[in-house]
Amino acid sequence: MPNHPYLDASVAWRIKNDNIQFREADHRTTVMAIQEAGLATEVRGVISAGKEADVYLGGYNGAPLAIKVYRLYRTSHRGGSPIKLESAGRLAAHEFDMLLQAWKGGAPVPAPARRVENMLTMRYLGDERPAPRLQDVRLERPERCLNELLSGIGALAGAGVVHSDLSAFNVLMYHDRPWFIDLSEAIRVDRTGYSPWQRLEAAEAALVHGLRALGAYFRRYDLEVDAQGEADRLVRRLDRWGVLDMD
Ligand SMILES: Nc1ncnc2c1ncn2[C@@H]1O[C@H](COP(=O)(O)OP(=O)(O)O)[C@@H](O)[C@H]1O
Ligand SMILES: [Mg+2]
Repeated sequence: MPNHPYLDASVAWRIKNDNIQFREADHRTTVMAIQEAGLATEVRGVISAGKEADVYLGGYNGAPLAIKVYRLYRTSHRGGSPIKLESAGRLAAHEFDMLLQAWKGGAPVPAPARRVENMLTMRYLGDERPAPRLQDVRLERPERCLNELLSGIGALAGAGVVHSDLSAFNVLMYHDRPWFIDLSEAIRVDRTGYSPWQRLEAAEAALVHGLRALGAYFRRYDLEVDAQGEADRLVRRLDRWGVLDMD
């Protein structure tokens, strides 16, 4: 709507002068949309309200589910009225695809269930309370957790997925093990398409960045992460065509 190129002149004038308000769907509307899409039979509450998406705890005939709903509008950087986020559906679709691919490949991610437009459902990690983020827990066996994370990153890569927003904020501790969430910007590396070199470069940069973020977290336990070394090792394994060795 707000970005429609063929707006009636009076509507365009009202948008320009901030005379019209585009608001995010309210809670009731979102709950109805979730139920109408058949994603859940009940919505029990909000687990997290983020910048780009909200996460709800829902249920499908009694079985718990996490429902991630991407926001449709975002405030523009220059201020002014919100702009419609055309990519909400694309982000949800990409996150769903990446979760499915990672989960099928055996990586520790919540199993995806369904996606409709800007909403997706997945396994709920938690019991009475949602599983805590790695950032918020005090680990009893930090070294074991770090090793599980590194092998998890390896399992993701083996499934053709590189998480590009990895940090202690996007890892949940559930049943004493780390699980990766928030794959909306993950890079698919099994099909490197027409420019494998570019894709691998992006994957390597993402890995170094994510491993450094984890390294920053593990410093509180006096543990070191060789971000560059780990990333190199993983990318070499992904580089089935040997493009990184070409001159
Ligand atoms: N499958 C899940 N089970 C339980 N809680 C979840 C699940 N997915 C997300 N959450 C909760 O929602 C929060 C935000 O999810 P995330 O995917 O990281 O979205 P954002 O884009 O807002 O960072 C997480 O920190 C976690 O607390
Ligand atoms: Mg997140």
